[in-house]
Amino acid sequence: MGSRLRGNDSTGLTRAFLPGDCPMSESPLIALAGVTKIFGAGAASMQALRGVNLTINAGEFVAIMGPSGSGKSTCMNILGCLDTPSSGSYRFKGVDVGALERDQRARLRRHYLGFVFQGYNLLSRTSALENVELPLIYRGAPANERHARAERALAAVGLGGWADHTPSELSGGQQQRVAIARAIVTEPAVLLADEPTGNLDSARGREIMELLTTFNRDQGITIVMVTHEPDMAAYARRVVRFFDGVVASDEQRTAQALAEPA
Ligand SMILES: Nc1ncnc2c1ncn2[C@@H]1O[C@H](COP(=O)(O)OP(=O)(O)O)[C@@H](O)[C@H]1O
Ligand SMILES: [Mg+2]
Repeated sequence: MGSRLRGNDSTGLTRAFLPGDCPMSESPLIALAGVTKIFGAGAASMQALRGVNLTINAGEFVAIMGPSGSGKSTCMNILGCLDTPSSGSYRFKGVDVGALERDQRARLRRHYLGFVFQGYNLLSRTSALENVELPLIYRGAPANERHARAERALAAVGLGGWADHTPSELSGGQQQRVAIARAIVTEPAVLLADEPTGNLDSARGREIMELLTTFNRDQGITIVMVTHEPDMAAYARRVVRFFDGVVASDEQRTAQALAEPA
């Protein structure tokens, strides 16, 4: 897979989601500034994010850690345009996401972002191939192109021979690999993964991490991954820790530490 869709105007995508604007290429890929999120209202309201500042550049592999309830998933949902901040700003490639129309945000999501969840979220009575084709259907790609790209994506996650199998015929690790194929089939700029190894044993978890590492290194896909597990975070070059709705620490791992994964 090439870098055809990776984030410039050659496809008209930037214009597609922000007509008339021309974001500067030197802008960080992702920039959250003072992002808050309050769920509910009045006495029952819950402030999940209390002013998140986070900048991520193209090509990074970032692990997000922190206690349960610290706001990691809320932040991921905002990064993925699945939810919006209560205040603060989210800029993607310099574009103010909060200023986009709903359908422009949907385009941004479809063309630049891929998702992987803890529970795989595959369609159950649908073959691996068709699951992987789904994001291309939303984009209106023709059938022959969809099949070819989905087959390539399945091969890239080591499931070349499993295209006809439904999720119930696959192990958890295989299902998560189908989900990764579905996420990368569109050649996204960013892969957002919320506890992708949370349901897997450590050997299967490491296989998933090896795949993410490969896509980051060979295709330049930026990876933002939530994990509780230090062994999995060890694959990332940068570890951001959330605590109580803010970024509590943000550390680059040294080359030495990377050479000796935990
Ligand atoms: N849709 C929601 N409605 C109400 N409260 C929510 C909602 N989503 C998350 N929360 C609350 O926001 C806080 C942060 O949740 P979350 O971002 O899921 O944390 P984490 O992923 O770090 O475990 C938690 O207290 C959680 O209960
Ligand atoms: Mg969570």
